[in-house]
Amino acid sequence: MPQVTLTVNGTTHTAEVEGRTLLVELLRETLRLTGTHVGCDTSQCGACVVHIDGESVKSCTTLALQANGASVTTIEGLASADGKLHPMQEAFREYHALQCGFCTPGMVMSAIDLVQKNPQGLSEHEIREGLEGNICRCTGYHNIVKAIAAAADVMHGKRAEIAPAMA
Ligand code: FES
Ligand code: FES
Repeated sequence: MPQVTLTVNGTTHTAEVEGRTLLVELLRETLRLTGTHVGCDTSQCGACVVHIDGESVKSCTTLALQANGASVTTIEGLASADGKLHPMQEAFREYHALQCGFCTPGMVMSAIDLVQKNPQGLSEHEIREGLEGNICRCTGYHNIVKAIAAAADVMHGKRAEIAPAMA
């Protein structure tokens, strides 16, 4: 079987995979990184979003072999070694931007990429549009949008900390 070598959350792994093995299968079943979820089989829900070399991708429609040599970040790789959450994670917590939490890993990974690609800032409409590929079945979009706006302020250096939700 072919081998794939990739770095996941800073650690290099080599694994034997079938040509048809999906990246999400490699992450969840071989590396046991189960924070990346599978919510559909139609590439629609975005629960499986991870970053490959800094770009958000749906790992349910990416072959493991396509990530050969790449640097992959999953939800497990966002917090720093001392446990400090990424500003996007902190904002989701502060703004109660989740209900069951199933969509959350993919939402957070997509949101980080969206914010990073828009240093000029994002309107509420642009955030909603940017989340087109992510479905929340609990329909909690209102707080998700507010959390992303708050995280963007920290990620772009406009604030030192996430603005309190009740401010
Ligand atoms: S599991 Fe990948 S888009 Fe739904
Ligand atoms: S919080 Fe339940 S699917 Fe989004």
